[in-house]
Amino acid sequence: PHPLRIGLAGLGNVGAGVVRLLADNADLVARRADRPVVVTAVSARDRNRNRNLDLAPYAWVDDATELAGRDDVDVVVELIGGSDGPALTLARRSIDAGKALVTANKAMLAHHGLDLAARAEARGTALRYEAAVAGGIPIIKALGEGMAANRIDRVYGLLNGTCNYILTRMESERLAFATVLAEAQAAGFAEADPSFDIDGIDTAHKLAILAALAFGSRIDFGSVATQGIRAIELADLDQAAALGFRIKLVGLAENLDGTLFQRVHPALVPLDHPLAAASGALNAVAAEGDFVGRLFFQGRGAGEGPTASAVVADLVDIARGVTTHPFGMPVAALTALPTADPASR
Ligand code: HSE
Repeated sequence: PHPLRIGLAGLGNVGAGVVRLLADNADLVARRADRPVVVTAVSARDRNRNRNLDLAPYAWVDDATELAGRDDVDVVVELIGGSDGPALTLARRSIDAGKALVTANKAMLAHHGLDLAARAEARGTALRYEAAVAGGIPIIKALGEGMAANRIDRVYGLLNGTCNYILTRMESERLAFATVLAEAQAAGFAEADPSFDIDGIDTAHKLAILAALAFGSRIDFGSVATQGIRAIELADLDQAAALGFRIKLVGLAENLDGTLFQRVHPALVPLDHPLAAASGALNAVAAEGDFVGRLFFQGRGAGEGPTASAVVADLVDIARGVTTHPFGMPVAALTALPTADPASR
């Protein structure tokens, strides 16, 4: 069988992880995909940065958007980041050229996911983004496929590893906010602009995507009420603990009788709730279906290995010929739910 040929845009932590995973697990991936999955071309801002990778086997492309037009690329993997700019140009061109697109870019999907999904439908090609939400946890597949038989009215969780890491380390090690933020950046969890993490915006991006999948509704990032963790002090964490709670940055989306509520804010989580047990950079997601009940997922939501795991799972699906609707149903079938200020709930 002919190999599935990958054009990889972005060689940061995650991109380098994808190259390493495809090399380390090449045989296993080929058996699961029923054909080899190989990188043919790569692009990144800085060719010479030390990544501990031999890039010699791959064609180098200076302008990532050119991956969309290459004959030796079947699937473009977009790991550039940013809601607009080259990531969006590359995504649109790739899909419009009939190539499958795999992306970890939650900001781009929160803003342009429906446009990209409509283009993918029109071209009959795949758009997959398991890595965009909760890293290694297969929550996109769980909501879009595994829970497809259920009415889902609530989805919530810890969707930002950096914030969870900061709050956990502040409490357990008595460290200052700035110190633990620097640790999270060094570990490769944080966004290029870490205000997206600590101000809750990254969580809001991910929540808007999950809500659309869960409720069969149009992505509505603009109506997510968002508050981050900048104002949290050690004294707050201590007060919460004394009362039997832990402070977590929670994202929660509900469909209440046809009205959409989406919010992100620091919340008091009872110590015996499973969300309270997800520590460090872990993510956790709970989804409630009318027939299945509550499902709870926990795992590593950021970093090289978990995110690469999700990207390659998407590649395996594409190699198998899977072209499911990106948001679980045709874009035209997604409903525009009226929204309400969460404070009115
Ligand atoms: N900055 C994100 C986080 C990366 O900390 O969770 C994964 O999306």
